[in-house]
Amino acid sequence: TRRITVRDIAAAKERGEKWPMLTAYDAMTASVFDEAGIPVMLVGDSAGNCHLGYETTVPVTLDEMTMLSAAVVRGTSRALIVGDLPFGSYQEGPVQALRSATRLVKEAGVQAVKLEGGERSHEQIRLLVESGIPVMAHIGLTPQSVNAMGYRVQGRGEEAAQQLLRDAKAVQDAGAFAVVLELVPAELAAEVTRVLHIPTVGIGAGAETDAQVLVWTDMLGLTGGRVPKFVKQYANLREVMGNAAKAFAEDVVGGTFPLEEHSVH
Ligand code: KIV
Ligand code: NA
Repeated sequence: TRRITVRDIAAAKERGEKWPMLTAYDAMTASVFDEAGIPVMLVGDSAGNCHLGYETTVPVTLDEMTMLSAAVVRGTSRALIVGDLPFGSYQEGPVQALRSATRLVKEAGVQAVKLEGGERSHEQIRLLVESGIPVMAHIGLTPQSVNAMGYRVQGRGEEAAQQLLRDAKAVQDAGAFAVVLELVPAELAAEVTRVLHIPTVGIGAGAETDAQVLVWTDMLGLTGGRVPKFVKQYANLREVMGNAAKAFAEDVVGGTFPLEEHSVH
């Protein structure tokens, strides 16, 4: 078997096929999703909140993304793996972006990278693509800018909608193979999806995008506390794991684990 490629992704849009994407941060989880047939996995910097215990994605480093991305690549054989460029690893300009993306491609083995920003990031996208690194763009709510914009719906109102459309066209013109639309009104995401020839990947962007992405710990009910309205929980791993840990603890304290069958002589 070979991995899915960005050409397969382009062909899916021509055929009008929708596809799913999940985040992954470790080899074992990634191997489950790979065996389940998830075609594209994102080693998101959401690892900051969902895997590494930070409050936001802002503190995540390129070293951390490289280590996590390498694990996901090792755990998979079929999925296209996209590595997220963390805050501070591409904002200085195209050359810094190329240096950072090259690390993810060479050291971690990802097939593509993702970075945030539309018009503001088009020079970075262009150089990476010219250098042979496929780029997934990310517009709308961009969590690395939380200190400037908060976590609010983007593209509401005529002016903001026009800016989102300009951002979408800018990343397509720069050569991005796909674009994430995060937390934008469904009607606007549908319009962007019609206008662009590259696939849109929605998260909190309604039903009309070409693809859908969810953060795996949200999707499987592992995240503690409240999850956003746009998340659908397909399992409650937090309960499953918590109950298993409690049962183990009770067995140990009560002397019912290990039993003879778990022992060697
Ligand atoms: O880091 C991440 O998980 C993401 C997705 C939500 C698109 O950027
Ligand atoms: Na991200």
